[in-house]
This record gives sequence, structure tokens and C-alpha cells, in this order.
Amino acid sequence: MIYLDNSATTKPFDEVIDSYTKVAKTYFGNPSSLHGIGGQAEKLLSQSRTQIANLLRVKPQEVIFTSGGSEGNNLAIKGTALQYQNRGKHIITTSIEHPSVSEACEQLKELGFEITYLPVDDNGVVSLENLKEAIREDTIMVSIIHVNNEVGTVQPIEEIGKLLEKFPKIIYHVDHVQGIGKTTLDLDKAKLDLCTFSGHKFNGLKGTGFLFVRHGVRIKPLISGGGQEMQKRAGTENVAGFVALAKALRLTIENRDETIKQLSKLKGAIIERLSMISGIRVHTPVRNSAPHIINFSINGLKPEVFVHLLEERDIFVSTTSACSSQNNEPSKTLLAMGVPHVLANSSIRISLSSQNKLEELPNLIDAVESAIHQLQNVMGENNGI
Ligand SMILES: Cc1ncc(COP(=O)(O)O)c(C=O)c1O
Repeated sequence: MIYLDNSATTKPFDEVIDSYTKVAKTYFGNPSSLHGIGGQAEKLLSQSRTQIANLLRVKPQEVIFTSGGSEGNNLAIKGTALQYQNRGKHIITTSIEHPSVSEACEQLKELGFEITYLPVDDNGVVSLENLKEAIREDTIMVSIIHVNNEVGTVQPIEEIGKLLEKFPKIIYHVDHVQGIGKTTLDLDKAKLDLCTFSGHKFNGLKGTGFLFVRHGVRIKPLISGGGQEMQKRAGTENVAGFVALAKALRLTIENRDETIKQLSKLKGAIIERLSMISGIRVHTPVRNSAPHIINFSINGLKPEVFVHLLEERDIFVSTTSACSSQNNEPSKTLLAMGVPHVLANSSIRISLSSQNKLEELPNLIDAVESAIHQLQNVMGENNGI
């Protein structure tokens, strides 16, 4: 099997699953219980929080455990909007966000919020000038995706942070779900107030994640109840999942430099070979893009048929992002980058992890070429050729 859909989800590391199983079996107590079994679970939870905080060089109290990226983004955006609505009701984000940001913003419109979606250039990058112009007296939040999940474009997060320093009342949120382990974002240097992480995107388990909330930044909880997670997210914590999350983050960060090198080489080689195939247009920009995502279109071919043809060869890729691949709509990100509708409607995403190897490349290219020939033959027959 060649698994190339790592932006949808990654295969958990064996050590991560081992940690989960051990904790779930042995330390099953509720961390809020006062007795010893609860105390053991609380100790593990607190150790995991501290480990994550140390890896990111933040404070343990700034790590709020969640169920993943969608919850983190919703908590960041709606939690900020509800907390600071008396200051203003204007939010700035980009036109290439994950739906867990854009749909959360759309929902806020029903409560009277106004949303500005910043445009991007043909590489998928926002401009600081456009951001500066969009800021108003009543702007309470700027939310920017770090690495776009469809094409891999990286936004200038640090430069935006520097610009926003001049507006201390604006909360700065970054969706770092696709960036962790593939980039070197420093939360402090980038002056972030809120930052979203999802465990299953870095070889942790589904249903685990965390939101960084800078000390002093207040957000309203979306789940009310027992006051867990510093009053920001109620509910009995998934202790085993969060221990496994901390382990996945440690392994990811320890190997980050090596992974970036390995993926960059692999990505470069894949793009070089794909670009040589007639009819393929690569959308992922050469500069300002993460090392693990390659997005391309094949002129006139149906992407879902292409994905299935590759699957017959035991190779797994995706059309656009996993969450929008079911609705058959053209990629919002590609349209925002000015890619013609027909190509935005036929894009394929290859996404890598450290588990992929250069040796897989010949099989991939061979499968891509033969899928294209097969589809062109069918099209030829249908056209009476
Ligand atoms: C950039 C980005 N943000 C948020 C999410 C949502 O994360 P989760 O699947 O953990 O809810 C995803 C998932 O694809 C993503 O790619």
C-alpha cells in the first residue's frame, strides 16, 4: 500500500497506540475524582499538558484539550466572538480557510457579526496591505490558516503577528492543524493569542487535539458544565487520548527537522515527475508551500474516477480535502487563487508523511500515467475516436 492522504489523516505511531492502550486499561479513573484512582488519571493528564507546553515553549495552563481541529477552531472563533462582542462585531479571515473556520464565521453572521474574507494571490497567499486595509475600529479578531489543507500554501504568520502587535485589542488566531511538524512556527515569536492543533494530523489519535490560549486571553466556553480545562471546555477529559497526543507531539517535534528535509525532497521529486506528464497542471506553489502537500489537475479528467483507478493499484490519494470531497464542488482554494473552474473541479491532492519513502515514487508515477491513458482511451471511445 502507498498511502498518500496524510492531510486527511495520518496512521498513528505504534508508540502512540501503546500509550493509549496502557493508560486506558490501567488508569481509567475520572481525573476530577477525589480518590487515588482519579488522582492517578489527573497526574497523567497534567503531565501530558506540561509535556505539550514544554514542547511548544508555552505555559501548561495555556493548553486546552479538545476533540480536534474542528472543535479547536470553533472554540477559538465563537469563544472569542461571544467574549468580546461588546468591543465590536467584525472578524477578518481568509478566503481559503478550512470549513471549521469559515462555517463558524458564517454562523456568527446570524448573531450580527460581519466577516471580511481576505483575497489571496495566484500562489494562495494573503497580502499584509489587504489585511491592514481591512482592519476597522470594531475588528475583534483575525483568524488565518497557517498551511492550507488543499494546496499547502504557507501564510506569513509572523509578519501578520508583527502587524497585529499595533492593534493589541485584536485577538490573533492561527489554524496550525496542517502546519505542525511540517513547519517551524514559534507561537511566541508570531505573537499568537490562539492556535489550533489536531492529534490525528500528526500521527496521534482521532478525537484528540488542543487549543493554545495565551495567558490573559479570555474565551467563552462552547461546552458548559463541570469547569474542566480552566473553565474553557467542560467534560470528562479523554485522559488516554491526551497522553497519546503528548507522545505523538513529542515524536513529531523531535523528528521535525529530519521530516521536513525528507518530505521536501520527496515533494520536489514528485512535482518534477508530474510536471513532465502532458496534461497535468500542478497548483501547489514552488515557494511558500509546506513540504507535504501536492495539488494538481489533469485536464478534463474526472478526479474521483482517477482516485479509484489509483486505488486499484493500492495507492491512496484524494480529490481536494477529505471533508469537501463528498460534495463534488470545485475547490474553494483553487478558485480563490484564480484557477479556472474546470481545473478547480478536477484537482487531486497527494499528501505525505514521514512514513512515505522515495522508493514509492516510480510506482506512483507509473500508476498516474497508466490511469491517464486509461481515462483518455475511454474519453476517446465516448467521442467516437
Ligand atoms: C487546516 C485544517 N483545519 C482544521 C481541520 C479539522 O480538523 P479535525 O479533522 O481534527 O476536526 C482540518 C482537517 O482536515 C484541517 O486540514
